[in-house]
Amino acid sequence: MNRKYRKTVIAGNWKMNMLASEIKPFMEQLKENLPKVRTCEMVLCTPAVMLPAMIKAGKDCKVAAGGQDVSRYEKGAYTGEVSASQLADIGAKYCIVGHSERRQYHGEDDMLINAKVKALLGKGIMPIICVGESLEQREMNLTMEYVAYQVKAALSGVDASQLRRCIIAYEPIWAIGTGKTATAGQAQEVCQGIRAVIRGIYGARPARAVSILYGGSMNARNAYELLAQPDIDGGLIGGASLKPVDFSEIIKATNQE
Ligand code: PGA
Repeated sequence: MNRKYRKTVIAGNWKMNMLASEIKPFMEQLKENLPKVRTCEMVLCTPAVMLPAMIKAGKDCKVAAGGQDVSRYEKGAYTGEVSASQLADIGAKYCIVGHSERRQYHGEDDMLINAKVKALLGKGIMPIICVGESLEQREMNLTMEYVAYQVKAALSGVDASQLRRCIIAYEPIWAIGTGKTATAGQAQEVCQGIRAVIRGIYGARPARAVSILYGGSMNARNAYELLAQPDIDGGLIGGASLKPVDFSEIIKATNQE
């Protein structure tokens, strides 16, 4: 982390878990365990139908709500889709884009992800843009090349003032939900590489200001070391964000110099 230049963000990704009726008890338990001094922004990304409940319950302890996906289109005949203006209208502040599960199970490609990033930015929602390599790509030494491509494609046509409203999440696919975390060194290396890619496009100052998160089996035990890395500005947390105590421990791990 480097709090002098950028915000620290701890975002939970609930995926297709939990029920709206479970949000209130979750938030009550979270509140009990949260530190008095806040050293990060807190976000919980829920299924779209649960966002109103999350927005209501999150107010008290300043947890922002985020979506997990958005339509690339503004409005119209797209059955089942949720638009950026609909997310903004109910008060969502963030939205995950390009998660590897969407890339893998829903065939999302980099062009689509770029269109979604722009749709969100157009409505004032901060995209949390996910990138990350597969195990095969890592073993073939293609990690940085592939991740650099994903970052460039997602940000294509995004100007420097819009970049300030973007968050990047580096999530190696082999570490998601597997209990296999990237080492702090591996995660730092790629996050640093992502910042260098952004520097190449936008220059030093915007690159220094962009928050880059790590995601992939981050938990209460490994969070401190990961967050101690200079280019890791927070986490995108799946499994451990479903448990209020574990999630609060990760939040506490942002309290370091
Ligand atoms: P995980 O998920 O923390 O359960 O590995 C992270 C994510 O998919 O965002």
